[in-house]
Amino acid sequence: MSNTVKGVIARAKGEPVEVVDIIVPDPGPGEARVTVQACGVCHTDLHYREGGINDEFPFLLGHEAAAVVESVGDDVTNVAPGDFVVLNWRAVCGECRACRKGDVRNCFNTHNATQKMTLADGTELSPALGIGAFAEQTLVAAGQCTKVPESRPEAVGLLGCGVMAGFGAAVNTGGVTRNDSIAVFGCGGVGDAAIAGAALVGAHTIIAVDLDDTKLEWAKGFGATHTVNAGEGDPVEAIRDLTDGNGVDIVVEAVGHPEVLKQAFYARDLAGTVVQVGVPTPDMGLPDIPMIDFFGRGGALKPSWYGDCLPERDFPMLVSLYQQGRFDLDGFVSEVIGIDDVEEAFHKMERGEVLRSVVSMREGA
Ligand SMILES: NC(=O)c1ccc[n+]([C@@H]2O[C@H](COP(=O)([O-])OP(=O)(O)OC[C@H]3O[C@@H](n4cnc5c(N)ncnc54)[C@H](O)[C@@H]3O)[C@@H](O)[C@H]2O)c1
Ligand SMILES: [Zn+2]
Ligand SMILES: [Zn+2]
Repeated sequence: MSNTVKGVIARAKGEPVEVVDIIVPDPGPGEARVTVQACGVCHTDLHYREGGINDEFPFLLGHEAAAVVESVGDDVTNVAPGDFVVLNWRAVCGECRACRKGDVRNCFNTHNATQKMTLADGTELSPALGIGAFAEQTLVAAGQCTKVPESRPEAVGLLGCGVMAGFGAAVNTGGVTRNDSIAVFGCGGVGDAAIAGAALVGAHTIIAVDLDDTKLEWAKGFGATHTVNAGEGDPVEAIRDLTDGNGVDIVVEAVGHPEVLKQAFYARDLAGTVVQVGVPTPDMGLPDIPMIDFFGRGGALKPSWYGDCLPERDFPMLVSLYQQGRFDLDGFVSEVIGIDDVEEAFHKMERGEVLRSVVSMREGA
């Protein structure tokens, strides 16, 4: 028996999102149906709505969520009804070329639900990142459910995407550690999580770069030691000035723009690392950088998928740090909104008024 629930869809490129009835099938083998408790609004949802990811409209948006498992397919053993979970968008297959090499965080064939959720007229939906959690219920692969200690869903759901991606970009992909310096371009939810991660592991210099002074102020709250407004002069010069003329050990690009990648490239010390976690649109090319600079400056340029995380390892660890008061997930929750408010949340994101608007499905959240 399928369930009919409310969900937020993007029907066509650039059109405002709509709240409509969607049909969520019973879980089949390897699947779980979950009751969503909270789901953050990530810039990637807006990328989907703008046609920046692919053209497979209509999309069921939302992908950074905490939920309770409602029912599971016959063969599912990793979760059971009633479990509190954070949804992940990289359920590894265990069988592809990367997995067989033991490189599971790069799995090339991550799992999503096999069955499709649909509109009432039978039109198949494309769930954002295989999740689709701006909905009262959604259907995922059971491996997309990561069990975590019960906590405030509006906060820990953010681990499902932006916060994990940013934290992991700095700590996992960039390998930032004590005695390092780091600059983070773009201080939204992703960038601020990179800053919080760098602070947690003891980086001594943490430079926040944004165009918006409010964002820079918030970044200080997550541990930035210095701020640079990239709209008021050359941020590369500013970063060099703050690092004895050398540049930083690690730069995280959390915007997704060629010009920013170029600045990140040159803001780095010799042999430093650039981590690209911001998502570009398909029309963007690599910046024009002389090849002699690529060679001559050494180091590494690394794209970061989902912060190179392993959800089963990293989500419970970060929830535990949150519960101990050592990782401020509540600080990312700018506002708690209803399922009807996603379109307005996109506008607030575009105007730079929020880090995360979080849709809550709970009474009294
Ligand atoms: N790689 C991944 O796995 C992954 C996961 C989640 C999100 N993302 C991507 O990360 C990026 C950031 O996401 P978010 O939710 O934090 O977005 P956001 O819109 O909240 O934040 C982006 C920030 O960048 C700033 N900015 C814009 N142009 C800038 C410039 N030229 N220089 C400096 N700062 C600038 C904005 O003022 C804003 O504060 C997006 O591209 C998103 O799609 C990637
Ligand atoms: Zn695999
Ligand atoms: Zn996201």
